[in-house]
Amino acid sequence: MAILVTGGMGYIGSHTCVELLNAGYEVVIVDNLSNSKIEVLQNIQDITGKGFKFYKINMLEKDSLERVFHENEIDAVIHFAGLKSVEESVLHPLLYYKNNLMSTITLCELMQKYQIKNLVFSSSATVYGIPEKVPISEESQLQAKSPYGRTKLMIEEILEDVHQADQQWSISILRYFNPIGAHESGKIGEDPLGRPNNLMPTITKVAARKYNILHVFGNNYPTIDGTCIRDYIHVTDIANGHIKALKKNKNSSGIHTYNLGTGKGYSVLEIISSFEKVTGVHIPYQIIAPRSGDVAVCYANPTKAEKELGWKARKEIDEMCMDSWRWEVNKMNDDLNKVNV
Ligand code: NAD
Ligand code: UFG
Repeated sequence: MAILVTGGMGYIGSHTCVELLNAGYEVVIVDNLSNSKIEVLQNIQDITGKGFKFYKINMLEKDSLERVFHENEIDAVIHFAGLKSVEESVLHPLLYYKNNLMSTITLCELMQKYQIKNLVFSSSATVYGIPEKVPISEESQLQAKSPYGRTKLMIEEILEDVHQADQQWSISILRYFNPIGAHESGKIGEDPLGRPNNLMPTITKVAARKYNILHVFGNNYPTIDGTCIRDYIHVTDIANGHIKALKKNKNSSGIHTYNLGTGKGYSVLEIISSFEKVTGVHIPYQIIAPRSGDVAVCYANPTKAEKELGWKARKEIDEMCMDSWRWEVNKMNDDLNKVNV
């Protein structure tokens, strides 16, 4: 019996595949490589020493996706596939609604047809919008502020309805806070196409001298040093949360929502200084105007996941910074090797 991992070639999906394979699960990946590279396949294999199946399929193409269900004994599905840029979703809302909603509906239709009712879904802390208070618990008000965020909220509602109609479904909705870091081997990590928007990939590119300077968006927020506070969490901790959710789903039906965060917040300046401390690399930065839509403080109350899934984030901020940097250095070395061949 296999776990179908949609979007398994992407950042969080690839780390989850590693943890699944290490834990002895059989894995089938579906990904259209719209935001990931084929090299990830080999890297997952190198890390785990295990084989798995990969289908390059666009999930909007139902007949192609059905082939995966037909050819494999699928036990459960982890659904990562989706587009994830807030900025891009504002420019291309229809692309986001079509890709994220239709892929989920097509997937659920096939799961229903093949009587597979165990699903773990990637949601996001973005569904909390501007939080009324921190730490943010799962019961906090939901108010997505972008088309991307609304796709997550809509999918959460679709899944509620799917479960309402057939209560044999076991669904875990995982709301991630700010995933950073990379596998300790440095072989897989976040590899955004084009210029990154997020803090950590921008820091590592400044450290690698691919960019001259880090722009810090605002220092006048009501926080310890005026810069925004976020709950950064190691991607491997996030990956392990999925294994815990799969196990919970297997033992009970129902639909449950969990925050995956550390419960601790760090400011932008604190992240810069942690990164400099553990890597020894100076990060030149400049404070510029606040970025529109940023909230001052956002961190999780992760106690529900601890109580009900037995999951807790383990890795500290220094390790997150070091692993992010190791991944960037390895990518630089790979690029150099390609040039020298
Ligand atoms: P990612 O872009 O690295 O991975 C997503 C993968 O899905 C990519 O490999 C992409 O090629 C694939 N994909 C997209 N549309 C597809 C389609 N129609 N058919 C098949 N494959 C398709 O993103 P990630 O950071 O690994 O995020 C995984 C999930 O977690 C996403 O749903 C994202 O919205 C969510 N999430 C991410 C973050 C974050 O900061 N990284 C935070 C909260 C939630
Ligand atoms: N930041 C900078 N400079 C940069 C990039 C970011 O100062 O070059 C700051 C931002 O202003 C923010 C903090 O760093 O204060 C974190 O920004 P990110 O873009 O890394 O993360 P966000 O919290 O804005 O958003 C991320 C994902 C969203 C997701 C959200 C909640 O990008 O998709 O976490 O999970 F919805």
